[in-house]
Amino acid sequence: MKIRILPSLLSADFARLADEIARVEDAGADMLHVDVMDGHFVPNITIGPLVVDAIKRVARLPLDVHLMISDPGGYADSFIDAGADRLTFHIEAHPAAQELAGRIRSKGVLPGLCISPETGVEAIEPYLGIINHVLVMTVHPGFGGQELIDGCIEKVWLLREKAPELNIEVDGGIYTETIARVASAGANEFVAGTAIFKAEDPAAVISRMHEIARSA
Ligand code: DX5
Ligand code: ZN
Repeated sequence: MKIRILPSLLSADFARLADEIARVEDAGADMLHVDVMDGHFVPNITIGPLVVDAIKRVARLPLDVHLMISDPGGYADSFIDAGADRLTFHIEAHPAAQELAGRIRSKGVLPGLCISPETGVEAIEPYLGIINHVLVMTVHPGFGGQELIDGCIEKVWLLREKAPELNIEVDGGIYTETIARVASAGANEFVAGTAIFKAEDPAAVISRMHEIARSA
């Protein structure tokens, strides 16, 4: 499976977003992770389609847009038009996932499904064949800089067993010190905000993460 490291822009300096994007692109990132929060599904508000559109104009890498919003069905088209290359929504917010995953794919965008720490893999199991990736949250969604919840790793093992070919992405508390645990469970895509943006040498962190994940 292709290993991908995705810096989460949530930890970037938003006053200098274009520079921050260039910094992680030059450092060897594989894709950019964009966290969308509505203050309703999660207790924080971040960015909307307008900012995704602005990011798209300066980014060279594809945008992996993570919707932490209560109405992903109502806003999917806006984020697709803004330039999302992959669009991930939470099963807790939109349990009838088939139609929305199909709609996203029909617009040329890769659909993904996300589960929060309290949700079991059975919630997304029926849809594993129609999505491009699953996103297993390893912290409670809403904020960067939290500690990885070890109890979530079991779900990565289960999913890898059920879907050997599927991209399994993990998000939250991923550092060079924690990535081996999720990589050996079977994850191949790693979102990291604090670890990359707060590092003095993001390139060193990204290449170290690649190396650890490869040999896990
Ligand atoms: C949290 C977001 C994450 C967050 C990860 O709700 O989905 O993408 O930015 O941040 P770190 O890597 O700092 O845990
Ligand atoms: Zn995220």
